[in-house]
Amino acid sequence: MTNPSSGVPRYTGLIDRYRDRLPLQPGTRAVSLGEGDTPLIQLTDIPLLRDREVLLYVKYEGLNPTASFKDRGMTVAVTKAVEDGSRAVICASTGNTSASAAAYAARAGMTAFVLIPEGKIALGKLAQAMMHGALVIQIKGNFDAGMALVKKIADEAPVTLVNSVNPYRLQGQKTAAFEIIEQLGDVPDYHCLPVGNAGNITAHWIGYCEYSCAPGDETTDACAYCQGNCALLADKVVADRPKMLGYQATGAAPFLRGEMLDHPETIATAIRIGRPQSWDQAWSASRESQGWFDELTDDEILVAQKLLAEGEGIFCEPASAISVAGAMRDIERGKIEPGSRVVCTLTGHGLKDPDTAIQQSTAPITVEAEMDAVNEVILQNMK
Ligand code: F0G
Repeated sequence: MTNPSSGVPRYTGLIDRYRDRLPLQPGTRAVSLGEGDTPLIQLTDIPLLRDREVLLYVKYEGLNPTASFKDRGMTVAVTKAVEDGSRAVICASTGNTSASAAAYAARAGMTAFVLIPEGKIALGKLAQAMMHGALVIQIKGNFDAGMALVKKIADEAPVTLVNSVNPYRLQGQKTAAFEIIEQLGDVPDYHCLPVGNAGNITAHWIGYCEYSCAPGDETTDACAYCQGNCALLADKVVADRPKMLGYQATGAAPFLRGEMLDHPETIATAIRIGRPQSWDQAWSASRESQGWFDELTDDEILVAQKLLAEGEGIFCEPASAISVAGAMRDIERGKIEPGSRVVCTLTGHGLKDPDTAIQQSTAPITVEAEMDAVNEVILQNMK
């Protein structure tokens, strides 16, 4: 649809935008909330980046309709569920998947069942799932326990599993890589992501491989991911792929330990995961791209979150900030070379987790509602 006054087509979501690269029937109506098309913002206030001549961009996925990257996968997964005649969706979640599943199920007129770890999801995410009318089941266990349960339930009951083990989720999420290439006009040298269940790093790698694959490339590993989608285009979009860097919280870092963990713990509750479902795929992305995994402490995560909010005006949730924390450390250490172009995904909006934000910020000052009192505080605090 085109805007009559400007002639510019109205953006109607990523299925309409990338339908030729998504595994949906041609006539299927998209269940969409206008997701995708998020900004790629260059960071400009960090001296280290100037010193090293590194261009660091953040892909602000918190600006999706439910304020996280999950909407990219959910629009495709729920559209496909409707196409298949399903009437209910189910997921386990650390919060964002449940918020997104609840919203897209509401949009499609479906029932959503969501399993969340009791007391371990950020308040905004819980409010979203409840407000969209999902049946919220709190379990006395963590995300990994919930995941094991929903996989069994979806095997036996007529409900569609919309965690990232659902391949349509990854197909939707791969479009973030397409957008980055289009926004930059090229591939970045490095792409930094938080890693929890490991679906998103896998999805980005699929996207980058697809845009660097062309008919005739059948023997390359990029082709193994593009599943013939390259044949839709005469030429590859870009020649290269970035190195994929995956960052985990120290208390929840199975990729660093080299094995699954039973008791993950971190303030970044979105990535409080010990048994990532896309384990093999994430290792492949890391190996094939010549990237790496690394870990950061909760303190380092919060420092980066604050730096982005205060220094750049960009509010993301703690789990998202780990991508910037990791990139900055690797730039400082020279692992990311001077002159590189780096993209960090900010996976979720900071408003999701108001408790953590308020705890680490200066408390508001309370004064009488009088000019003198307010003026005095202003004068004392002028920068
Ligand atoms: N960042 C945020 C804000 C997330 O919510 C998640 C995952 C991740 C990063 C990690 O992405 O799992 O693809 O490696 N959240 C899931 C959820 C697990 O249930 O909302 P991943």
